[in-house]
Amino acid sequence: MKSEQEDSFQYLFSLIKSRRAIRSFSDRPIKDSDIHDIVEAAIWAPSASNMNARYFIVVRNRERITKIKAFSPGMFSNPSAMIVLCTDKNKAYEVGGELGVERASLMDIAVSTQNILLASWAKGIGTCPLASFNAQAISKILGLPEHIFPDLIVTMGYPSELPETPRRPDVEEVMFLEQFGRKETQG
Ligand SMILES: Cc1cc2nc3c(=O)[nH]c(=O)nc-3n(C[C@H](O)[C@H](O)[C@H](O)COP(=O)(O)O)c2cc1C
Repeated sequence: MKSEQEDSFQYLFSLIKSRRAIRSFSDRPIKDSDIHDIVEAAIWAPSASNMNARYFIVVRNRERITKIKAFSPGMFSNPSAMIVLCTDKNKAYEVGGELGVERASLMDIAVSTQNILLASWAKGIGTCPLASFNAQAISKILGLPEHIFPDLIVTMGYPSELPETPRRPDVEEVMFLEQFGRKETQG
């Protein structure tokens, strides 16, 4: 009989593996409570020194989405919502100094992003992270203060099309043992 742990791993792994970057959405709106749950999942991602220098701007207004899209060459869809993940640069510097503001804060955004993608997928909501946008223009559209920087946008909606699964490397291609290039632990 399979253990409970094995079941949870299989469930989590199936979510991780079946999630795709969705670039085609239906008009079906996302419930407020679902957005709330998804942002809560993002908050519970790890945070360097527990600095929590992240803000999540939820955009659902059609006109505002259209404006953001005009400054986002990487956006190929018409999402019903988006979350703009932002870093409070002052807080990141106060807590973590140069390392906090230059590196750790972006990692904080990345781990929160994965929680958003998986929590959404678990609810049947498709997402696509995107880094290709004009940060200055997006800051202006969202009224961000000077010290709040938009690092990443996640577009969201119910998928109207599922893309093909892109290739990932096999574990054997990218996993080494003890030292780069080594496939054996001996020696
Ligand atoms: C940091 C980051 C930035 C990305 N930027 C874009 C983007 O600007 N536009 C886009 O369509 N997809 C973007 N993607 C999605 C990737 O293209 C996608 O994850 C990749 O092709 C693998 O597909 P999959 O997520 O379906 O496995 C981005 C993903 C990441 C992690």
